[in-house]
Amino acid sequence: MLFNPKPKTRRDELYDREEELSILEGSLKKGVPLIVLLGIRRLGKSSLLNVSLGEVPVKSVKIDARKVYSAFGSVPGSALAKLILEGYIKTSPRERVKDALKGIKGVRLAGVGLEIRVDSSVNLFKVLERIDSMGERFVIAIDEAQYLRFSRSRYAELIAWAVDELQNVGFILTGSEVGLLEDFLRLHDPESALFGRAHVEVKLRRFERRQSLDFLRKGFEEIELDIDEHEIEEAVDELDGIVGWLTLYGYNRYLGLSHGESLRKLKDDARRLILSEFSKLNELSPRYGLAMRAVANGRHRWKEIKEAVELLEGKRLDDKNFSNVLNNLVRYGYLEKTIDGYFIPDPLIELAFK
Ligand SMILES: Nc1ncnc2c1ncn2[C@@H]1O[C@H](COP(=O)(O)OP(=O)(O)OP(=O)(O)O)[C@@H](O)[C@H]1O
Ligand SMILES: [Mg+2]
Repeated sequence: MLFNPKPKTRRDELYDREEELSILEGSLKKGVPLIVLLGIRRLGKSSLLNVSLGEVPVKSVKIDARKVYSAFGSVPGSALAKLILEGYIKTSPRERVKDALKGIKGVRLAGVGLEIRVDSSVNLFKVLERIDSMGERFVIAIDEAQYLRFSRSRYAELIAWAVDELQNVGFILTGSEVGLLEDFLRLHDPESALFGRAHVEVKLRRFERRQSLDFLRKGFEEIELDIDEHEIEEAVDELDGIVGWLTLYGYNRYLGLSHGESLRKLKDDARRLILSEFSKLNELSPRYGLAMRAVANGRHRWKEIKEAVELLEGKRLDDKNFSNVLNNLVRYGYLEKTIDGYFIPDPLIELAFK
């Protein structure tokens, strides 16, 4: 159903996104070696990734780099190699897998099953080269790929090399910390490994108002709930075009909560989630949280925000240092910079900082 709160896996649970799906699937079918899917949190990146990989008949593995990072505190080459190979094993007959793995240093098949051991001596270039040499297309999809920067291995270079040299291995990378992923890949920086590489980029946007309204109406129709138009309008006023929030509102209604209870519960849950997601930035410096507070409370110009933060901190701040704070908030997707200043692109994030 449209209000299923998990990342979607099937097209019939997705509202719209026809155009984005068609670009993604078209690129997968054409064998484009590098596809980048960008968008702030909760716009449906993982869902689109799932649906397109499910629909295009290509062997693939999906890796959540954020999860690897939280398990290891970095993204070690051996962990990545293990996940890639586990994905490969699942899609290929055992004999073929045995062939593919033969003699790769640091990798061995354990026991009679398909359990695989990978140690730190593994060379990811070799692993990809071997998969490539098996002659069948294999796509490595890395969700939240900006986390690849937490590694001693230089993954941007690995990807650049694979894009140039390998015929059968392709990548899809998604990122919600849009600026960080862009900085990591540096596709448009002449000095970088990935510069000038052929790739397709898809940027997910918030739903427009009419889409958000239609999404809720269709969702309620599907679960046969007769919801007052007034409430639908109000939910969209409060949640804007962030499909993740709209979905949770619909799900709360599905569970039987009233309009008011659904919004209240959603805001409470969202606040907790958002502040916990934000805590890693706040650990770097509480100034990030103060700047968010200033913007949430109506300061949008660089100078206004700086003055508000200075007031909260009780001291003058260096211009350059403060610019870094705002630039980082933009890179992490917490702020958007427009000609009218800095804005918070998600109403519940704004609310959490008020
Ligand atoms: N087009 C859509 N139609 C219906 N539901 C959607 C759609 N896109 C996303 N959703 C729902 O919105 C929520 C967020 O989706 P998803 O996890 O795919 O987004 P994401 O961009 O990967 O988020 P995150 O940045 O948190 O990883 C999920 O509940 C999902 O089911
Ligand atoms: Mg996701």
